[in-house]
Amino acid sequence: MNYCLLCDTVKPTNFAILNNNTKTMRIIRLFSLFFLLAILALAPASGQQTIVIETSGTALAFKAEQGKKLVQTYIGERLMSKAEYESAVAGFDAFPTFGGKAIGEAALRVVHQDGNTSSELVYDSHSVKTEGDIVTTQINLLDPAYPVQVRLFFKAYQKSDVIEQYMEIEHAEKKGVTLYDFASSYLTLSAQKYFLTEFHGDWAQEMQMQEQELIYGTKKIESRLGVRSNQYAHACFLLSENGKAAEQSGNVLAGQLEWPGSWELRFEVDQLGDLHIAGGMNPYASHYKLPQKTVFKTPQMLFTYSTSGTGTVTRRFHRWAKEYGIHMGDRTRMTLLNNWEATYFKFDEEVLKRIISDAADMGFELFLLDDGWFGNKYPRNSDHQGLGDWETNHEKLPNGLGCLVKEANDKGIQFGIWLEPEMINPKSELYEKHPDWVITQPNREIDTQRHQMILDLCNPKVQDYVFSVVDQTMQQNPGIAYIKWDCNRFMTNAASAYLKPELKSHLFIEYTRGLYNVLDRVREKYPDTHMMLCSGGGGRIDYGTLRYFDEFWISDNTDALDRIFIQWGTTYFFPAMALASHVSVVPNHITKRIIPLKFRFDVAMSAKLGMDLQPKDMTAEDKQFAKNAIQEYYGIRDIVQQGDLYRLLSPYESRRTAMMYVTENKQKAVVFSYLLKKTINGEKTSLVLQGLDPHKNYTLHEINKDTKQYSWFSPLEGKTFSGDYLMKYGLRFTMYNEFDSKVILLEAN
Ligand code: DGJ
Repeated sequence: MNYCLLCDTVKPTNFAILNNNTKTMRIIRLFSLFFLLAILALAPASGQQTIVIETSGTALAFKAEQGKKLVQTYIGERLMSKAEYESAVAGFDAFPTFGGKAIGEAALRVVHQDGNTSSELVYDSHSVKTEGDIVTTQINLLDPAYPVQVRLFFKAYQKSDVIEQYMEIEHAEKKGVTLYDFASSYLTLSAQKYFLTEFHGDWAQEMQMQEQELIYGTKKIESRLGVRSNQYAHACFLLSENGKAAEQSGNVLAGQLEWPGSWELRFEVDQLGDLHIAGGMNPYASHYKLPQKTVFKTPQMLFTYSTSGTGTVTRRFHRWAKEYGIHMGDRTRMTLLNNWEATYFKFDEEVLKRIISDAADMGFELFLLDDGWFGNKYPRNSDHQGLGDWETNHEKLPNGLGCLVKEANDKGIQFGIWLEPEMINPKSELYEKHPDWVITQPNREIDTQRHQMILDLCNPKVQDYVFSVVDQTMQQNPGIAYIKWDCNRFMTNAASAYLKPELKSHLFIEYTRGLYNVLDRVREKYPDTHMMLCSGGGGRIDYGTLRYFDEFWISDNTDALDRIFIQWGTTYFFPAMALASHVSVVPNHITKRIIPLKFRFDVAMSAKLGMDLQPKDMTAEDKQFAKNAIQEYYGIRDIVQQGDLYRLLSPYESRRTAMMYVTENKQKAVVFSYLLKKTINGEKTSLVLQGLDPHKNYTLHEINKDTKQYSWFSPLEGKTFSGDYLMKYGLRFTMYNEFDSKVILLEAN
């Protein structure tokens, strides 16, 4: 018998057999039909596809179908089989717009030329591009009723395991559209509970961590400051699912916005208990008129999803930062002596020469001359005047900066200079010439902070001027190796005289774009100059800006105890190599606290070591200790600056705090342990180490020792233990006294 399933014909040879075979065939055919129907029920409807964005550990997936809404179906740990992302059926609008059926907060809100306030976005197409380690997925969405295209970009960094998301919008509406909401990213989590850690504070108390459970409603963290926009909060978050964030366990989504202007992060728990996270530039008072055929691009939101707690998040961000996020992330950062707390505005050539000589003698690699070196008609002898007049003050420095550069170089160290080129004192020659260059509302009293105002970087002429400040300083004083770029106020009374009346609300966005233009030009001409990002402390720290900068000044508060908390929060997102940490005098100028020199050094050595005090005022003994500490730092610098960070004991949970760095090849590690409060019977918590190779044996040495005192680490000095033991039993030594500190070097044999 020949049976054809398709043509349904049978050629019988014998009735009995025919009857028999026909029955069998019917059963087979019925079975086949059921099978086919079952496949059809499970298979995606025609044209539906799954777009998967993956790194080595994190994944994000969308369902896309021509003409339908794009749906986020998955966010979490990467699945072993790519095909299984298709099984994820439940989903959420991937980029909700205002005006459709959605009732939650919109990622995008557009008013069209005809006054229609609604937008609908449907999937149109997508493409994937691979460039080395980076896989970029572009998803194009269209509004079926208006000529508007929205492009979502996802840059997946395979090795460092982070994703950058941003959005572009472009249209062909002749009279233009107005954008009212323009998120960079929109992600939805679905868990039982959500715990948000935010990083906020103020001047001298930056990056304080606070965790709270999110319940129904919207929690917003934002900055409306325009400039110095991290003064009160950082655009960074940790979002832990189902329990509080922990260092080595739990599901955590962590994100940060790469943008120094006003920003907002919105966390909305809806009526079904799902959490929608939108982040981007702050749309507050910033509606944007977009002409046709012009691309509006948002800044990048950087995020990663870890199933092994916040430690993993940290190391991913750091690895990414060193490769992509900060300027020249692979070069060694120099130690330096800064004269700010040593002299403030009160110095002359002789004073500086003496400090330079001391800095070289102590072993520093660079001397950084801070504020106060410029201005003649209005000498910069205080913060009341002179900002904007960037010629060397003849009285203080009759031989110019060049003579100091030479002095430093002759002594074998480099020279760095402080600039605050975006700012101006009304009492300055620059203001007399260009009163229209400042940001202020017309017909309102000018509002100063620290007696200064902000130059209007929306204006291309002002951009040229700001670039020329840097350029001329560099050209007139060849040999300057380092620039500290300061920025000491935020926007109030915010208005640009340059922007046309109908575009005044663009100020907050255009200012940052103007700043980027200037920084692009600076970096094009001076690619090798080391630059420190400073904003009265940590008022401006983000990866939008850090791609131009080698390091940052996180706080004017140099009190080592406060620094432990400030640095603890900062390092969730930014690596120690870029975190300048300076030893300063006691009593501390801000807190008045008295902390031993060793503790101050041990805290600064856990990041990028520097000093902010007058060496001539040190005792010979302290100076000798400092000299030795600087050499000790050189011995561990690569571990600290290039190693992986592991947090061991949190200062928020324990009176003893500890962390460690491990080199990539796990050959070396350094452990920092600090006691923040005296414990009468001794604090003996085991430091259960992390990140070592369990099969390697490590020999322990205490470094930067206080030779005058017995060290409770002595019984372990020179001993060798396996990584396995150190990561299970731990490192056990007792600490007793307030501000006792230990630095332990581990070297694999
Ligand atoms: C604020 C900075 O944070 C300080 O380190 C110092 O540079 C002053 N500005 C100078 O005015």
